[in-house]
Amino acid sequence: MKKLWGGRFTGTAEDWVDEFGASIGFDQELAQQDIEGSIAHASMLAQCGIISAEEAEEIIEGLKKLKEKASNSDLEYSTKLEDIHLNIEHHLTELIGPIGGKLHTARSRNDQVATDMHLYLKAQVEEVIELINEFQITIIDQAEKNIETIMPGYTHLQRAQPISFAHHLMAYFWMLDRDKQRFSDSLKRINLSPLGAGALAGTTFPIDRHLTAEMLGFEGIYENSLDAVSDRDFILEFLSGSSILMMHLSRLCEEIILWSSQEFQFIELSDAFTTGSSIMPQKKNPDMAELIRGKTGRVYGSLMGLLTVLKGLPLAYNKDMQEDKEGMFDTVKTIQGSLKIFSGMVKTMRVKKETMEGSVKNDFSNATELADYLAAKGVPFREAHEIVGKLVLECIQQQCYLADLSLDAYKEMNPLFEDDIYEALNHYNAVERRTSAGGTGFSQVKSQIGKAKELI
Ligand code: ARG
Repeated sequence: MKKLWGGRFTGTAEDWVDEFGASIGFDQELAQQDIEGSIAHASMLAQCGIISAEEAEEIIEGLKKLKEKASNSDLEYSTKLEDIHLNIEHHLTELIGPIGGKLHTARSRNDQVATDMHLYLKAQVEEVIELINEFQITIIDQAEKNIETIMPGYTHLQRAQPISFAHHLMAYFWMLDRDKQRFSDSLKRINLSPLGAGALAGTTFPIDRHLTAEMLGFEGIYENSLDAVSDRDFILEFLSGSSILMMHLSRLCEEIILWSSQEFQFIELSDAFTTGSSIMPQKKNPDMAELIRGKTGRVYGSLMGLLTVLKGLPLAYNKDMQEDKEGMFDTVKTIQGSLKIFSGMVKTMRVKKETMEGSVKNDFSNATELADYLAAKGVPFREAHEIVGKLVLECIQQQCYLADLSLDAYKEMNPLFEDDIYEALNHYNAVERRTSAGGTGFSQVKSQIGKAKELI
């Protein structure tokens, strides 16, 4: 098979060297985008009078046939032809003859590959946004069913104050919303066309870059040809947005793993998202949550990998940049898969309201209520904190909880205590009364869910 740059070479590389340099093993993922870009390019070449209308028609007919074949996985690729661009071009000339060679007029693989990746990432990011949206809807549904489900809220993984389970779930809604915003915002920069930048310096042919940009659905073009072919910021942005998304998912994984443990028993995951053990018959493992937590590592890895690839590169294109692809493809697969799993997992999990609420009754997470009670009666909060601290100590010594102490015991500590303290100590009331904006009070949680619904 003749190399496309055959003219300048007298020798050939050995197969194993070609294989090392080839990207066709992974960039065949870009076949559709590569052909779409070529169709737009050929059409523009004709409209600008650079090739004839008949030639363009022949080329486009050929490309359309290849597109069909590629979508049926019916195209053969060769490592000898290095990458998807050269493979497609080779197939085109096989199909329509030497006219196919005109397609590469006023174009380079450098602007071609960048165009392909912009097109690819645009579609994938739109899909990611859709998947985040679906997961957000699932969260809202679960939250609505659990507004008055009380659970211990934690800081330092120590019981802190009782909260609504819906409130806890909704925290993830907002994280995901920021993720969605980051992806949406990045679309502005993905939506630029590098096509027509040529190898690095533009071209002498009277091309129309705006025309190809419009045909391909881009919102604008890169203003600088060097930047157009060497920019990979849009992939970095995708990888960093994905890393933050995975970090969020991984935190929820961790909580789901804890909550479904024997120690917590706050939720039970459906059989569809768990596995058993080959040796211990009693086990039900939260495998999917663990796996997503684990996969976070490879997404961070892809971000670090590409940042490192790019950091020392002089302008413009360098072969190093071929390393931008596998991490990107892998990340697309990883985050889309993780989001789908999460929607299913959260939709089907059983919330064990009784255990959650039960655990809250047997602890000191209502201690702040007492301190607030005194503070509301004019005792400086610091002093109130001290008094309640002593009451907690007394309980620990007597092996009871705050609600078990008698009113006399309270009055002895401070005469401002009245018998309405027991109301204040009630966990349900403690949650309900936290009505400051964004707080866990039921009315606030409801209005938060209302706002979330408006955003969806
Ligand atoms: N396979 C190459 C890549 O992925 C395509 C661009 C090659 N350009 C070049 N001048 N070698 O980056």
